[in-house]
Amino acid sequence: MMPFDTGRPEMNVEEFRLLRDFVYAYCGILVRDDMKYVMQRRLWPRLEALGLTDFGSYYRYLRFDAQRRPELETAIEALTTHETYFFREPRQLKAFSDEVLPVLERRNARTRRLRVWSAGCSSGEEAYTLAMLLKESGRFEGWDVEVHGSDISRRVLAVARQGEYGPSALRATSADQLSRYFVQLGPNRVRVRDDIRALVSFGHHNLQEPEQGSCSSRMDAVFCRNVLIYFDTPARQRVLRLIYEKLTPGGYLMLGHSENLINLSADFELVHLRGDLVYRRPELGGWSP
Ligand SMILES: C[S@@+](CC[C@H](N)C(=O)[O-])C[C@H]1O[C@@H](n2cnc3c(N)ncnc32)[C@H](O)[C@@H]1O
Repeated sequence: MMPFDTGRPEMNVEEFRLLRDFVYAYCGILVRDDMKYVMQRRLWPRLEALGLTDFGSYYRYLRFDAQRRPELETAIEALTTHETYFFREPRQLKAFSDEVLPVLERRNARTRRLRVWSAGCSSGEEAYTLAMLLKESGRFEGWDVEVHGSDISRRVLAVARQGEYGPSALRATSADQLSRYFVQLGPNRVRVRDDIRALVSFGHHNLQEPEQGSCSSRMDAVFCRNVLIYFDTPARQRVLRLIYEKLTPGGYLMLGHSENLINLSADFELVHLRGDLVYRRPELGGWSP
């Protein structure tokens, strides 16, 4: 242990490697070599909370202590970003509403059932946004419709289930959308309306692990936006494989605007919509290993 000028322990290179590899193996998040100080700063409060004096002890705690599981989740919490807001990336959402939903309506006309998954949903804004778009389309009245949101962080899932938000979550929400889909709770607080909430469920799921039963249905569309950016290539490929298996043939995959499948997967087809590019699981064929 080396005293830092704040009196807090400094993370040595070996401890950094151990913690970085452990985090990567658990959730696929790659902490770059130049992020040792960021990791150190974000984990200091955990050492303090547990009364540990160095990062080697913290690593051993994460690996072997009886309380390791909740602490691992807290550590991941400290190292991940949950940035999100309602109606994020409106161009893609418009393409989804105008061009994807009519296709899904036709495809599923017989079953009258629709499933949409927000994978890496953070505090729920994306999942609720999708439910709002489904409602607004007017296409699925009387259908069995469900939007499922999942995330690795139980803390953000608790916020999602509560469905109450402040100004930062609403930065791209128009006054019209605000009055249509939210109930005002106070000057700076709103709650998603109950008819929208009724369409949405949330579950805990680590995208690096096979599905643990948070939602068993096949999906017609998956939004996995601004999640792959935190992973390296093998971890991205694991997530894409999982999404591919989960999508119904012909089902759609929407990524964040800075993400694409180049050099990651040839198993999805690129679909040129008028308003955007999206991916689709082909009707025929399986995953090529
Ligand atoms: C930046 S947020 C994106 C939220 C939303 N999809 C959006 O685009 O607005 C990334 C989310 O991915 C989640 N995440 C990171 N690694 C994950 C993993 N292995 N499994 C599930 N979720 C993960 C984080 O907890 C975080 O909430």
